[in-house]
Amino acid sequence: SFQPDHILRVTAQNYSQACMDRYSVLVNGTSPGPELRLQEGKVSWIRVYNDMEDSNVTMHWHGLSAFAAPFSDGTPMASQWPIAPGHFFDAEVRPEIGYAGTYFYHSHVGFQAVTAVGSLVVEPAQPSPYEYDEERIILLSDYFAKTDKEVEEGLLSSNFTWSGETGAVLVNGQGRLATNATGACSLAAIEVEPGKTYRLRFIGATALSFVSLAIENHDAFEIIEADGHYTKPAKTDYLQISTGQRYSVLLKTKTEAELQEAKSRQFYFQLTTLGRPAVLTTFAVLEYPSPTATDLKTVPSPPPLPIANVTYGWMDYALEPYYPNTDFPTAAEVTRRIIINVHQNISSHTVWLQSGYDWMETFPKSPYLVDLYKGELDLAASYQRAMESGDGFDNQTRLYPAQINEVLEIVWQNQGAVNNGGLENHPFHGHGRHFYDIGGGDGLFDPVENEKRLNGTHPVARDTSVLYSYRKKTTALAPSGWRAWRVRVTNAGVWMMHCHILQHMVMGMQTVFAFGDQEAVMAQSGSIDGGYLVYGGSAYGNSTYNP
Ligand code: C2O
Ligand code: CU
Repeated sequence: SFQPDHILRVTAQNYSQACMDRYSVLVNGTSPGPELRLQEGKVSWIRVYNDMEDSNVTMHWHGLSAFAAPFSDGTPMASQWPIAPGHFFDAEVRPEIGYAGTYFYHSHVGFQAVTAVGSLVVEPAQPSPYEYDEERIILLSDYFAKTDKEVEEGLLSSNFTWSGETGAVLVNGQGRLATNATGACSLAAIEVEPGKTYRLRFIGATALSFVSLAIENHDAFEIIEADGHYTKPAKTDYLQISTGQRYSVLLKTKTEAELQEAKSRQFYFQLTTLGRPAVLTTFAVLEYPSPTATDLKTVPSPPPLPIANVTYGWMDYALEPYYPNTDFPTAAEVTRRIIINVHQNISSHTVWLQSGYDWMETFPKSPYLVDLYKGELDLAASYQRAMESGDGFDNQTRLYPAQINEVLEIVWQNQGAVNNGGLENHPFHGHGRHFYDIGGGDGLFDPVENEKRLNGTHPVARDTSVLYSYRKKTTALAPSGWRAWRVRVTNAGVWMMHCHILQHMVMGMQTVFAFGDQEAVMAQSGSIDGGYLVYGGSAYGNSTYNP
C-alpha cells in the first residue's frame, strides 16, 4: 500500500519563541518544522495533515517548479482546494533537474507562514562545484506578537490596523526581542569548528523583514548559490536577503591560533532590518564551543556592528550563473511584455493591487487548476481576451494566460501609493519555474536601456527578486521603480506570482498566471487521482481522518 516519504502535521497551539507565548501554526509541533532533504530529479510524496480545528492550510514547496505535478504546488484556489480541518493532502514533489540547492516550505494560507515554515534542501545528483567541509542552515523568520487571525482581521478591516512591526528576526526559530535587552532570553547559536569551510544556507523565511546580516570579526561571505542555482563566487561583507530568497555562502572559520588571538570563541551574528519605518537590530551567535568561554548568548544589549546605511541604496548583487545558461532567451526572442502595475489603494479597506486587482476579491469559486483540468476554464477564449485587453490580463477569468513556448518579459512596475502607504520594498516571487532576473531600477522600465546594461551578460535564474523602494514616501501615484524577469513559458500549470511579504499577500498583492492549456496541463500532470479534484482531496484514497 501507499506510503508517503515524509509526513507533515499542521497544528495550531501556544508556542514559545523569543521567550514569548503566541498561538501559532506549527509543522510537526515546532517552528521551523522539520528539515526536508529531497533528491534532484527524484519524486518524494509528502503527506500534509491538517490537525487544526478551524483553519484551512496548504503547503507550498517554495522555489521548486512543480513541473511534474502542478496539483502539488500548494496554492489555495490556484492549484488546489485548501486542506480542510481533519483532511490530508498527498503532494508529489519532484525537484526539477538543475534545481539542486536551498529552498523552504510554508503554508500558503493567510499569515500562517510566519511560523508554519521549514527548510528544504535539494541534494544534487552531481557533486557540488564548490568544496566545503560542512553546512549549516540559517532560516530567518519574524516574530509577531499578534496572532495570525488578529493580523489578518486588522489588515482586512475597513478600520485598517497594521500588524505592527517585527519584534525580532529569529534564527532557526530562536532569538530575543529587541525590546527585551536584559539577556534573560538566550540568543540562537550556530555552532562551528575552527579551521573549516562551511556552507551557510540562508533562507529568507521572514514574514516582512528584509535583512542585512554580517558576522563580527570574520572574513567576508562568498556567495555561491542564489535560489537553487550555483553562482560564480561573489564576495560581500553584508548579505542582504528578502523574504522568499535563499543564498548559500562559504564561510572560513577561524583557526585555533586566530581564536586565541581574538580572545573569544563566540562572535555576534547581526541581523538588521532595512526599508521599514525603524531599523531593528537583533542578534545570534557564531559559536566555537568551549566549556570555558564567556557566553555571549545571554549578554544583555550587544554592541551593534558598524553597518552601512543602505536604506535607500540596495545591494542588488550582479550574480552570474556558475553553469552557463543555455536557455536564457535573448531580447529578440521576447514575444510579449507584461507590465504589472502595483500600488496601494483604499476601497472597502486598504489593499495592494496588481494591475488593478486584489487577489482576495478575485478568488475563484473553485481552483483554477481544477477547472482547467476538468475543461471548465476556456483558456483559448481567456487568451483572446487577454491579448485584446492590451496588458495581458483577462478581466473575466482574472488571470494572465500564456502559451507554451512564448517568451515573456514580466515587469513589476511600482506605481507608488495613495494614502501615503506606498513606496516599500516588494520581494516578488514566481511559482512554476525560475525566471531570469534581468534587472531592476528607479523610475520606469526602459527595455532599450536595460538591454544595453545587460550587454550580453547572462543573469541568474531566480524565483524571488526585489522591487526596491527607491524613493521616500509620497502621496502621489508616480512610477518609482521596476523589476523585470524574462522567461520562456514551459511547465504547464496555474502559477501564482506575488509579493512575498505576508501582510501584502493578505492585502491582495497576488496574481495568477496560467501556462499552457487543458491538454498541456493533462500531459504535464499525467494521470492524477480524482481526489485532487474535490474538496479536501488527496492523491491516495479517502482524505478524511479523525485528528
Ligand atoms: Cu513562498 Cu507563493 O510563496
Ligand atoms: Cu509587498
